[in-house]
Amino acid sequence: MTKPLRVALIGTGFMGKAHSHAWRTAPRFFDLPLDPRMSVIVGTDPERTASAAATYGWDEASTDWRAVVERDDIDAVDICSPGDTHAEIAVAALAAGKHVLCEKPLANTLEDAAAMASAATAALDLVALCGFSYRRTPALGLARKLIADGRIGQVRHVRAQYLQDWLTDPDAPATWRLDRERAGSGALGDIGAHSIDTAQWLTGSLITEVSAVLRTFVDERPVRTGVVGLGGVGDRDAPRVPVTVDDAGAFTARFDDGAMGVFEFSRMATGRRNANRVEVNGERGAIAFDFERMNELEFYDATDEEGVQGFRRVQATEAVHPYLEAWWPVGHGLGYEHTFTHEIVDFVRAVAGEAQAEPTFPQALQVQRVLAAVEESDRDRGRRTTVEATR
Ligand SMILES: NC(=O)c1ccc[n+]([C@@H]2O[C@H](COP(=O)([O-])OP(=O)(O)OC[C@H]3O[C@@H](n4cnc5c(N)ncnc54)[C@H](O)[C@@H]3O)[C@@H](O)[C@H]2O)c1
Repeated sequence: MTKPLRVALIGTGFMGKAHSHAWRTAPRFFDLPLDPRMSVIVGTDPERTASAAATYGWDEASTDWRAVVERDDIDAVDICSPGDTHAEIAVAALAAGKHVLCEKPLANTLEDAAAMASAATAALDLVALCGFSYRRTPALGLARKLIADGRIGQVRHVRAQYLQDWLTDPDAPATWRLDRERAGSGALGDIGAHSIDTAQWLTGSLITEVSAVLRTFVDERPVRTGVVGLGGVGDRDAPRVPVTVDDAGAFTARFDDGAMGVFEFSRMATGRRNANRVEVNGERGAIAFDFERMNELEFYDATDEEGVQGFRRVQATEAVHPYLEAWWPVGHGLGYEHTFTHEIVDFVRAVAGEAQAEPTFPQALQVQRVLAAVEESDRDRGRRTTVEATR
């Protein structure tokens, strides 16, 4: 009999749904060393939380995360609530002896992220994983392997963009994502954080300096009356509330191995739905990826014969690619939800002591340092700002 792993999930929204799907799917497709039990889902509204429990398949519903993380019949806490709740829940859960999976960005402030990293470091026998889910895209896993194997040589350029357009309409309503108190920052922490994590993970080097500009195009938005996708629905004539975060931004960066980076992130990039892109150029080759075509990796090999050189399109759907052996025949493709299933697989294997799951909280703290440096640089008109780089 496989030992159970009794899970409490906090949050019933977008990520609550994605993680519920992943907890249900992971043990059915992957051979796991523990048996995940979907014990409790925690929300804020009793009716909505009960409905989420029934729909997503959780045994119980609760609106009291404090009581839930203390329960003896819970082994792991999965935090899928907004950034202002991460530190308090994660630190309490680790103190109560629970393994923790926490959504990204790790926290809203550097101070909170540092407290979480310290709590994780002190809890030696517990797993504390931050949910930078794009790491679990097979095509990006292949890119990382090619770079680590030296197939593109010394890295010189990292070019990363994360572009969405769900805030393009100036009358789109306000949500917690537009409130600094709740979200920490705007497009920067929401999607730019993914690019920062991806870039550092792909190249194995850390960002040591940034020069940034952030921009808020729409200062006030109508209050929201309902939720749809990342945004919501609202009445154009409803009272307006201030937007206290960035809509978009860009920064240049230096990496500790000598490479340079250019990053751009926006939730107002009209026409771009979820274009999470990265290109890395090295002395002998390059890789390019766009999440809107998530099953494909472009690879350029400068050692190819003269006359037939060019980017080749690799379909990262073969059993040799990361996570693919559990899925479909070659060429049949995966979707967004699979990245979360893979995250749960890695988390469960780490809890069982089979492998270390990354990014750890200290590694996610490094991303937070870059986020803080970007904001500091922007406040000082783009001054080159140093990022403390610790592995
Ligand atoms: N990995 C990714 O690609 C990805 C994508 C989207 C969001 N996220 C992250 O996931 C987190 C949640 O984002 P979301 O899009 O799911 O938000 P959401 O608004 O859809 O859902 C948030 C949920 O948190 C719950 N919540 C808030 N405060 C709570 C509390 N005190 N106790 C219990 N529940 C509480 C709300 O009831 C709601 O169910 C954020 O940190 C966000 O940055 C990650």
